[in-house]
Amino acid sequence: MGVTSIVGIVNQKGGTGKTTTCVNLGVDLAHEDSKVLLVDCDPHGSLTISLGHPQPDALSVTLADLMGRALNDEPIKPEDAILHHDVDLLPANISLAGMEVSLVNAMSRETTLKRVLATCIRDYDHILLDCSPSLGMLIVNALAASDRIIIPVQSQYLSVKGVEQLMSTVACVRKNINHRLKIDGVLLTMVDSRTNNSREIASLLWDTYGSRIRIFDAEIPRFVRAAEISAAGSTQLCLGLRRHGYHCEEVRRCAAAVQAGADVEAAGRQPQAQYDGELGGADS
Ligand SMILES: Nc1ncnc2c1ncn2[C@@H]1O[C@H](COP(=O)(O)OP(=O)(O)O)[C@@H](O)[C@H]1O
Ligand SMILES: [Mg+2]
Repeated sequence: MGVTSIVGIVNQKGGTGKTTTCVNLGVDLAHEDSKVLLVDCDPHGSLTISLGHPQPDALSVTLADLMGRALNDEPIKPEDAILHHDVDLLPANISLAGMEVSLVNAMSRETTLKRVLATCIRDYDHILLDCSPSLGMLIVNALAASDRIIIPVQSQYLSVKGVEQLMSTVACVRKNINHRLKIDGVLLTMVDSRTNNSREIASLLWDTYGSRIRIFDAEIPRFVRAAEISAAGSTQLCLGLRRHGYHCEEVRRCAAAVQAGADVEAAGRQPQAQYDGELGGADS
C-alpha cells in the first residue's frame, strides 16, 4: 500500500450533504478495491448511524476515547474502536462533544486527531473525515489532519455564501498548523437539474469562487431514489447508494477525482513519510 490520502468532508453548515457524500465516496472507492476508513468526527454520530449502528451512545469505544488516549499519552490502539464493514468505520457519539471541550486547554490540542490517525494510516488507501457542522476545535483537528478537503455545498443561495467563512478558517489552519492543506474542491449536492434555481446557484458558485478553487464538474443530483432506499429499510439519514446496489455516475466521477488527487499527492511524496517526520513515528 502506498501513500494514504486523508480527505476532510467539511462545511460548517448542517444539511449540506457531508455525511451522505462521505458514505457514497467511501463505499464507491471501496468498490474500486481501495481500503477505506470513514471517520465520524461529528458528536451527532450520523455517519455511525448510517453505517448500521442506530445507537452510537451504546458503543463502548469510539473516536473520543482514542483522542483521550492520545491526550494522555497512552497507547491509542485504534483496533479497539474501528468497526469493520465494506468500508471501515471509526465511530463517534455524544462523548465527542465532551472531548471537544477538553481539547480547549490541552497541549497539542489541534493535532490530537492527527495523532490518532497516525496509528492506523498504514492500513488504508483513503481516510475520509465526516466533519461536524461547526467551526470549533473538532474542525480545526480535522483540517490539521487532512491533506485535502472537499466542501459539499447544497444548491441553495445561503449555502454558497457560507463558503467564504470556511475558506478563511482553512487559510488560518494552513498558515499556522498544516501547510500542506489543500482545498480539493467544492461539490454541489442535491442538485435538481430540472429547476432554474439549481442552474442559478451553480453559476453563482462559479462566479464567486471559480477563479480561486475548483468546483467539481460532477454535481451530485437530488436522488429521486432517496425515498425508495429509505423504504427498503436502509440507512436513516444517509444514502449509501452502492451499499444498496445503486450506481450513480456522478458519485463515481467525484470518487475518481478523489483518487486522482491522491495519485498526484503520492507522486510528490515518499510513502508513509508523511506522519513519521512530523510526529516521530506512530504509536499504538
Ligand atoms: N443527493 C441527495 N438527494 C436526496 N437527499 C439527500 C441527498 N444528499 C443528502 N440528502 C439528505 O439530506 C439530508 C442532509 O444530508 P447529510 O448528508 O446528513 O448532510 P450533513 O452531513 O451536511 O448534515 C439527509 O436527510 C440526507 O438523506
Ligand atoms: Mg453530517
